Amino acid sequence: MGLSTSNVTSSRVPATAVVGLQWGDEGKGKLVDMLAATHDAIVRFNGGANAGHSVVVGGTRFALHLVPSGILYPGKPAIIGNGVVVDPEKLIAEIDGLRGRGVETSGLVLSDRAHVVLEYHKAEDALREDLLAESEGSGGGGKIGTTRRGIGPAYADKVHRATAVRVGDLRRPDVLRTRVAMSACIKSAAARGLHTRPNAEIAAGFDVDSIVERALDHGRVLGDSIQDTTYLLHDLLRRGKRVLFEGANGALLDVDHGTFPYVTSSSTGTTGIASGTGVPMSAVGRVIGVMKAYSSRVGGGPMPTELFDATADRIRERGREFGTTTGRPRRVGWLDLVAVRYAVMVQGVTEIAMTLFDVLSGFETLRVCTSYRTPSGVSDRFPADARALSEVEPVWTELAGFGEDLSNARSVDELPPGARAYIDLVESFVGVPISMVSVGPDRTQTIHVGADAGR
Ligand code: IMP
Repeated sequence: MGLSTSNVTSSRVPATAVVGLQWGDEGKGKLVDMLAATHDAIVRFNGGANAGHSVVVGGTRFALHLVPSGILYPGKPAIIGNGVVVDPEKLIAEIDGLRGRGVETSGLVLSDRAHVVLEYHKAEDALREDLLAESEGSGGGGKIGTTRRGIGPAYADKVHRATAVRVGDLRRPDVLRTRVAMSACIKSAAARGLHTRPNAEIAAGFDVDSIVERALDHGRVLGDSIQDTTYLLHDLLRRGKRVLFEGANGALLDVDHGTFPYVTSSSTGTTGIASGTGVPMSAVGRVIGVMKAYSSRVGGGPMPTELFDATADRIRERGREFGTTTGRPRRVGWLDLVAVRYAVMVQGVTEIAMTLFDVLSGFETLRVCTSYRTPSGVSDRFPADARALSEVEPVWTELAGFGEDLSNARSVDELPPGARAYIDLVESFVGVPISMVSVGPDRTQTIHVGADAGR
């Protein structure tokens, strides 16, 4: 009996991954959009509508939440893998919005194994946040500051198993009804029995019929875009196609490796690729870590290099640091290289893309955090959780600022010496080469460093 190799991936072209190295919003969308030109398929593997990737093409800004950034290349498969939690209503609205602006969306494919965010997940997200906020000061740690998109509760249902709804169920009325009814029942019972303050919407239960009918409508609209993406991806790889994995959120928001509990509910980096797509990590040869030239964070949790002064206002304004998903002003601060080096290590990053470098021009001096002062001495390690991180003080390395506007530079040689010194410091500290530097939102405002850059 001969061995069949039809199900075995023998990719000769290693796949590429793009992952964020901070707390999200690192500018991954622009990178993925650029790399999509030389790849054959683009794949999301984690998160949901909490992510916000903005891409500027020809002066037009596109804000994407669930749809992979590669959608802007007509005809290429833009795949939403099984590790994503999909709010079908938001996805359909996003597709309609793109079509309304003339974007061809026929390449969009959605895993039948992806989990569905339903209205009770969003209600539960909001309720949990409100209760956490109320607990602050009386022993609780305060709210996480989630996007209230139902991400955590949808992932929790996935782990609970029998009450979870998967995208494939949107086309199976009997399975859908059973699961929604059971989920609504358990959530109502829990709300009545466990929460100190009854929440009208949750305690009153949900209108199961209307949730099911709407979900079935969504299933009809999404139609044949719902597929088995695991086989699709292995087929693409076997045929030597170049696959690009697009991480959402950021390494420091990873549910295991981030600033727990102030994290999101998925594996946000390369650790999420295998579970979130069914493609083994051995298929990925190139991991591009994306970092801002400074730090930003949305929501709660410690951020050692955070600034609260005029410098912060200036960075926020120049960097347009207002959330793509929620519009919230982002917290900003100097670059934290201890955090970035940790993220590079955990994610297996092979090269770095540094974004928003132009935002730092015009400062007299620049500060970069290169170690932490902790209660037990100076350390260059990123601690295991939020409590420990909140106890550290940054130890700074100061650099001379660079006065010139960088937004028109197109090569390293065109950068002022101070800017080159900044790049050198990051590279030598983190131990991974910087292959791309972004100096503005447009595709053209990019400096490629080294032979492989931009491919
Ligand atoms: P959730 O993912 O909505 O549960 O939010 C958990 C935390 O992750 C909150 O602090 C959010 O602000 C943050 N977060 C989630 N997604 C992103 C993102 O794409 N960029 C930045 N922060 C994010």
